[in-house]
Amino acid sequence: MFEKLQKEVVTLLKSEGGKDSKLLAICKLLKSSVPYYDWVGFYFKNGDKRELKLGPYAGAPTDHTIIPFGKGICGQVAESNENFVVPDVQAQDNYIACSITVKSEIVVPLFKDGENIGQIDIDSNTPDPFTSEDERFLEFVNREVAKIL
Ligand code: SME
Repeated sequence: MFEKLQKEVVTLLKSEGGKDSKLLAICKLLKSSVPYYDWVGFYFKNGDKRELKLGPYAGAPTDHTIIPFGKGICGQVAESNENFVVPDVQAQDNYIACSITVKSEIVVPLFKDGENIGQIDIDSNTPDPFTSEDERFLEFVNREVAKIL
């Protein structure tokens, strides 16, 4: 599944259109292709501020359009520069709930010229669905996305 999706992501990034429309298309592609991806979105560092701002996403609207560094899973990844896989969100103290249906989450940082400038965030309504294959796939997506940013 991920091999085919990688090719589709590359094709999509080569297509006509602005950055945000390509990022949105990636969110929609991932959400509709991976059965346990229920919300897919990008957050980016908000200028010089130590906070993340929501970018393109697919799934239910969220109130959390701004997330301070250090807060929630996303805010922690902004500081750690490392993938954060959460098999059970209820077991996390520093977690920002977007929807009561969410059981698990994965956040993978996005680097441009070695700098952590944002992340891809995926929520799942399935408990503990993410494996190292998801991590490798999402790292690939972020590397490809970084090329157009
Ligand atoms: N759960 C995230 C907040 C973003 S929503 O999942 C869209 C967090 O704890 O950082």
